[in-house]
Amino acid sequence: MIQRVHKVMALMAMLCVAVFFSSTLMVELAGDAQAVALVKSLIVMPGLFILIPAIALTGITGNVLAKQRKGRLVTAKQQRMKRIAAAGILLLVPCALILNHWAAAGEFSGGFYALQAVELLAGATNLLLMLMNARDGRRLSRAVSG
Ligand code: HEM
Repeated sequence: MIQRVHKVMALMAMLCVAVFFSSTLMVELAGDAQAVALVKSLIVMPGLFILIPAIALTGITGNVLAKQRKGRLVTAKQQRMKRIAAAGILLLVPCALILNHWAAAGEFSGGFYALQAVELLAGATNLLLMLMNARDGRRLSRAVSG
């Protein structure tokens, strides 16, 4: 049961980050200011309200599963989770809130694009770390089932 919750929450979190990243990139390349503002607001609400619980539950259930498991893969996943959480709290959530605020006010200055670049870089890094955790999760599950 706990494995299933971990897997579903992990997949949901990865899907959120992938959708936020690709929709941001697409609307920046092909959309107008109004479309950018719409995407920014959807990322905050409902986006963050889905992503934050999903990532928190992924971490909690992962740590519960790790109580019965030790080894290199488990330690690596825990280290990556710390980096994912730190980047999320310190960079991604503040970026999403500030960019949404600026886009809603029509403020597309150099600062907006600089912060947008930071958000895309942090988002891509987090997605990569999450994919690495999913790969190691699959290895751990396979090791259990035989
Ligand atoms: C964003 C972070 C994470 C992602 C994306 C992720 C992803 C996954 C996925 C997809 C699986 C299931 C693989 C399958 O059954 O096919 C899995 C399993 C597992 N994960 Fe995570 N995980 C994350 C964080 C963590 C953390 C922080 C831990 C704690 C060390 C952890 C420990 C485990 C363990 C022990 C399994 C194997 C469960 C079993 O016994 O079958 N995960 N993970």
